[in-house]
Amino acid sequence: MACNIAVFGTGYLGATHAACMAELGHQVVGVDVDAAKVEKLSRGEAPFFEPGLDDLLKSNLDAGRLRFTSSYEEAAEFADAHFIGVATPQKRGEFGADLSFVDTVVCTLAPMLRRPAVILGKSTVPVGTAARLSAMVAELAPSDSIIEVAWNPEFLREGFAVQDTLTPDRIVLGVHAQSAGRAEALTREIYAKAIADGVPLVVTDRETAELVKTAANAFLATKISFINAMAELCEAAGADVSELADAIGYDARIGRRFLNAGIGFGGGCLPKDIRAFMARAGELGANQALTFLREVDSINMRRRTKMMETVRDIVGGSLIGTRVAVLGAAFKPDSDDIRDSPALNIAGQIQLQGASVSVYDPKAIENSRRLFPTLDYARDINDACDNADVTLVLTEWDDFKNLLPEDLDSVVRQRRIIDGRNCLDPAVWRSAGWIYRGVGRK
Ligand code: UDX
Repeated sequence: MACNIAVFGTGYLGATHAACMAELGHQVVGVDVDAAKVEKLSRGEAPFFEPGLDDLLKSNLDAGRLRFTSSYEEAAEFADAHFIGVATPQKRGEFGADLSFVDTVVCTLAPMLRRPAVILGKSTVPVGTAARLSAMVAELAPSDSIIEVAWNPEFLREGFAVQDTLTPDRIVLGVHAQSAGRAEALTREIYAKAIADGVPLVVTDRETAELVKTAANAFLATKISFINAMAELCEAAGADVSELADAIGYDARIGRRFLNAGIGFGGGCLPKDIRAFMARAGELGANQALTFLREVDSINMRRRTKMMETVRDIVGGSLIGTRVAVLGAAFKPDSDDIRDSPALNIAGQIQLQGASVSVYDPKAIENSRRLFPTLDYARDINDACDNADVTLVLTEWDDFKNLLPEDLDSVVRQRRIIDGRNCLDPAVWRSAGWIYRGVGRK
């Protein structure tokens, strides 16, 4: 049965969720205070790059199942389910999450809710947030309204956001112990197709649901830092981390995914989520439980400095006056997201050491230019590599993975390549006369 749904926030999470809910046949209104975003989305254009999303937006706008607005009133009158999909960035100068966007949505919406409704939080929040928001709703909503606050964390990966939303690995729902059951019933209706297709639905309390998300991200971050720590050891011992990852990955208990050594994790989620998790554990008096995440964070940050040192080393000890080509700016391929991107961070560090740095990325140039206006941005791979003393692959876009030495032989000044994502074949480059360095590779 089609449900009436509002989605607050139209970033990577909210815009994708709104379009996918409409794709499932529901009537959806996406709400954002940013009028420019609303206008763009209403034309069927995502304000960021996400494969497949523009098509989904257009077809659902045309089908009359999806619209975007800045009006909370409109959403409050229309929807039975209110999804919260706004950002929860790291607080300035602190590890904790900034919940002001989530709080603002609830404070604005609650007084307008004149009919029974369920607020379903999707944003990644510290454990205890749903309970706190519930108290806010009880205070602010009209006295005769029946409003439930439940948590339905989102696990989508950028680059696969549409696929992950339509066919998730699991659906998690955290409900209040005294819930009248409306949150669960509505959630089952909303995700009826996925549930019928066998996607597991885990119904639990709100605290567990909130923790599931942060625990999952902490685990993924730990897995990446684990293999990056092994890369450090491999470098010291003259071993090869890619072969090591293949070999341990065959053990089904370990698994090969998220064991790619390189310049580490970035993006709008993993780095800030593990920090917010540590901050929350401290508030709860359980900080010891997560002290290992400090190490996970430092292993990760060390990759960036280490990469800058490798570049300095390969050009003979000083970066002053050298030309460095950086291929990749996004925090990962198939995304234009540059939040806490290791690639851009490294490009910036190298420039500060006196090199002239030319960056190319298939999708993330505009965003990068806004954040780091002092770097040089190239039109294409050749433009970036023109006369380069060293070429760095820092984001594993297909265009870079498929590069061959002969594509660059006559473009660069020095045939040196550093593979920050271990995505190239060292033998191919070395046999063509290039100096190749990977991460934790012989
Ligand atoms: C992550 C989680 O995967 C997702 O479930 C959650 O909802 C949001 O956070 P995302 O930020 O889109 O998703 O990126 P992800 O694919 O997890 O990659 C994060 C970072 O780790 C990237 O910078 C990527 O390059 C890096 N990474 C990933 C590695 O360095 N090695 C790996 O093996 C995998």
